[in-house]
Amino acid sequence: MLYYRIPMQIIVARNYESLSQKAADFVVSAILLKPSLVLALPTGSTPLGMYKFLVELYNRKKVDFSQVKVFDLDEYCGLTPEHSQSYAFYLRHNFLSQVNLKKENIHLQDGLLDVSQASQYSKQFEETIEEVGGIDLAILGIGRNGHIGFNEPGSKVDSLTRVIDLDDKTIQDNSRFFENISEVPRKAVTMGIGTILNSQKILLLAAGKNKAEVINSSMEGPVTVRVPASILQRHPAVTIILDQDAASQLKRKE
Ligand code: GLP
Repeated sequence: MLYYRIPMQIIVARNYESLSQKAADFVVSAILLKPSLVLALPTGSTPLGMYKFLVELYNRKKVDFSQVKVFDLDEYCGLTPEHSQSYAFYLRHNFLSQVNLKKENIHLQDGLLDVSQASQYSKQFEETIEEVGGIDLAILGIGRNGHIGFNEPGSKVDSLTRVIDLDDKTIQDNSRFFENISEVPRKAVTMGIGTILNSQKILLLAAGKNKAEVINSSMEGPVTVRVPASILQRHPAVTIILDQDAASQLKRKE
């Protein structure tokens, strides 16, 4: 279903290094403008370079995270925060433990939540976001099936934080991080599409040839729940940073 399309700012970087640098600069500029910025943080291989540059900029005293607040987008259900494939571990290891974020300003999804109490958990997570004034900048990666966070195809536009069954394609793609595919959790908890759309600004990152097709359908195809990222076409302040491979199927390059 096509609703309406708002022009997105699309930046095509020379390569992955440059994409990562531009993403880190984007985040730092936002923090300079608002030192108490509220961020939603992604995981996956794509943002690793951005986190590396953010830590570097912090070490060079170019940015101060002491008032910044962070929420993570998603987490596998059933993994402890110490599990090497949990997103809590990933974020702590690659970013949170290396900058001066205050413990009370870090809000991670709970992979060990009691799934039978999920609606209570979700309500609380959304309330915590509201209490800090909402998300200023949601940083996103994208799955090959168009998922953002873990909002798989079919996710409703107004969906909020909830537990979701992972798509077969996602389980297959993410199995590369586990010893074998049977170890990949089948459920996850994720901010909803509605939670993400409520953010003031959105920054989406994608790199590599295997993202070219989904970037084309998300950015230039119809807005449809079958491709969750296509819904970003309805948000007024989206910036997309791509490397040349991920941008290779776009017709319109800004
Ligand atoms: C996981 C995360 C997503 C992320 C995606 C892409 O499935 N839940 O939030 O966008 O991976 O990962 P990668 O950057 O490794 O391609």
